[in-house]
Amino acid sequence: MLSEQMKSIRSFDLKKSAESSLTESYAARRPLPAANWRTTTEEDEEKQQQAVQAGLGAHHLKKKRKRVNLKRGRVGERQEVTVSPLVEKYWFQRYKLFSRYDVGIRMDEEGWYSVTPEEIAIRHAEKCRGRTVIDCFAGVGGNAIQFARMCYYVVAIDIDPQKVALALHNAKIYGVEDCIDFISGDFFQLAPSLKADIVYISPPWGGPSYKNIQNFTLDLLKPKDGYSLFQVAQVITPNIIMFLPRNIDLNQVEELSWLSSPPLEIEIEKNYVDGNFKGITVYFGRFESDVSGLPSSLEDGSVSKG
Ligand SMILES: C[S@@+](CC[C@H](N)C(=O)[O-])C[C@H]1O[C@@H](n2cnc3c(N)ncnc32)[C@H](O)[C@@H]1O
Repeated sequence: MLSEQMKSIRSFDLKKSAESSLTESYAARRPLPAANWRTTTEEDEEKQQQAVQAGLGAHHLKKKRKRVNLKRGRVGERQEVTVSPLVEKYWFQRYKLFSRYDVGIRMDEEGWYSVTPEEIAIRHAEKCRGRTVIDCFAGVGGNAIQFARMCYYVVAIDIDPQKVALALHNAKIYGVEDCIDFISGDFFQLAPSLKADIVYISPPWGGPSYKNIQNFTLDLLKPKDGYSLFQVAQVITPNIIMFLPRNIDLNQVEELSWLSSPPLEIEIEKNYVDGNFKGITVYFGRFESDVSGLPSSLEDGSVSKG
């Protein structure tokens, strides 16, 4: 197991020597930037701080704003927070998104509606415990932070440098920033040079309007259809997790496992938070089966397939 992990890391980090020691810092294992990607800098973070006001997105500054007078925050204090109408609904769920929200979590507008709720992110991370993971569409860090708490090594990629800066900031709130290599770049360009035990795919679902679609087919996923996403991920590893909308076409999802020969094992899981159906997680390949200590709402929705 340990030697397998070392193998994965060596093949990811082209500059790593064969004498690698498990006690080296994560920063020392950081791969060298290639032409089509770069690691996050302090400058990125400063830019993001200027753009994101009070934890809200810069790009909705021009939109109509709504004042929400919140009589009581979590610790009983009076607060007044300005949020866009779109963000308002998610703001009320802020502690479900990040339990440490009050410590200084920041999100832009897309981050608010696309971050994986913390309870579900913990579930995903539990299944990857002790292994190396690539979070291909990391957003503001909801999943990457939980992976960092439980996994051996995490690479978090996002095409949007502001998202990467937000994710880095949020990782600091959880004290796990040193356990994640953040990369600002296009997953599809990076994939051929990556190696890990598990690839985690939480792609854009096309915004909150995904809920209005009766049967969400794989071609509706962004930035490419689900078949393309899956095939690119397969180049890295057969162990793939996809976090998908609750209305995803499950027949199409099952077909994905047949793209591999022999077909991959597949486990489909419905994810609820406080009884609300939030999404579907599909595990392709081999994963941690011990789910002890997980909220029963998550275990109940689990369906295993051969
Ligand atoms: C649904 S969000 C991910 C949310 C994340 N799981 C979280 O919990 O914060 C999808 C992310 O994919 C990013 N993205 C879109 N196209 C990408 C690409 N080609 N490569 C890498 N990231 C991409 C977007 O910028 C967005 O932040």
